[in-house]
Amino acid sequence: MESNNGEDYTQNLLLAQTHVWNQIFSFMNSMSLKCAIELNIIDVVHNYGQPMPLSELIASLPIHPSKATFVRRLMRILTLSGIFSQQNDDELPEEERYVLTNASRILLKDHPFCMTPFFHVILDPKLLKPWYQLSNWFKKCDNNISPFETEHGMPFWEFITIHDPKIGNGFQDAMTSDSGVVSSVVVEKFKGVFEGVESLVDVGGGNGTMAKAIAKSFPHVECIVFDLPHVVAGLEGSSENMKYVGGNMFEAIPSSDAVLLKCILHNWNDEECVKLLKKCKEAIITKKGKIGKVIIIDMVVGNDNGDKGSLETQIFYDMAMMIFVNGKERNEKEWANLFLSSGFNNYKIIPIMMSSRSLIEVYP
Ligand SMILES: C[S@@+](CC[C@H](N)C(=O)[O-])C[C@H]1O[C@@H](n2cnc3c(N)ncnc32)[C@H](O)[C@@H]1O
Repeated sequence: MESNNGEDYTQNLLLAQTHVWNQIFSFMNSMSLKCAIELNIIDVVHNYGQPMPLSELIASLPIHPSKATFVRRLMRILTLSGIFSQQNDDELPEEERYVLTNASRILLKDHPFCMTPFFHVILDPKLLKPWYQLSNWFKKCDNNISPFETEHGMPFWEFITIHDPKIGNGFQDAMTSDSGVVSSVVVEKFKGVFEGVESLVDVGGGNGTMAKAIAKSFPHVECIVFDLPHVVAGLEGSSENMKYVGGNMFEAIPSSDAVLLKCILHNWNDEECVKLLKKCKEAIITKKGKIGKVIIIDMVVGNDNGDKGSLETQIFYDMAMMIFVNGKERNEKEWANLFLSSGFNNYKIIPIMMSSRSLIEVYP
């Protein structure tokens, strides 16, 4: 019995050490992928058109010859993390051959929803710095100042629009990629949401990717992209039923049958969300017995189809919102409290298939 306990202790100690090592080193997955993107490895493997031998890959990369032997090690971690997979030739088994996976395909330069802008933004040293402030931030009483603001002395939105527009442009590109994915699914699989809707305002709609897709798929819907004046300055609708309007969503929102809020409410604290939702309620018209609605596309934490990957994405996003903007990802109870506090009576949550996001319809 005693020796069993001793063995359990040793085994648990070794497992614990491995677990903690893997937690410490987990940043290596993102940094290795960042390196692969910068060296164009994903497009090079894709353009080869068949499983690419390591030697061919090395010969095709913009690297110094003295670094040739290191490529195999980079490819090994990227294969372990599911970015590449190996399809070796039975006749030449000693040489690794790489192919893309579904994950790397969405990182190809000409993929319509290419996700690489997310790398440039999230892993930019200026956006990594606030993470080093996290424990300090926990110790301070600082009136809703985010770790980002603690580090950079100004809120995230001000930083990316005024101080560092390069990151701001990268951020818009990242949101364009995300809205491309989400809009293609929503207009295809959730047509019912737009039934009876004749006008829609996409509040905080950025460069209008989401509204463009809605205006194109539902030509009877008049779409307005509503965002800060400098964001929509000079932008023009891609069709007759779409236009851009500048303004501040906390002051007034143009009237319409439906207000869309995609990736907006998770950027704000509860008090700010209630203020915004009340403005949305004022904006949705109730006419001819028709009831307007707010359509929210955001995460409902715990609504993850039982998929561990989706739950992990939700928790990562929640931390990112806390660090950058003092926002949060909410569970159903937290959403319901927001709706009730802003004067809404009813809501319906529709999970967006296999994604970490849901579509929530909210009614007055
Ligand atoms: C996370 S982005 C979401 C963009 C878009 N909805 C999407 O999902 O692709 C947040 C957007 O809110 C806009 N925004 C921030 N504060 C705003 C305000 N007070 N009034 C209107 N828009 C605002 C930003 O300019 C930005 O485009």
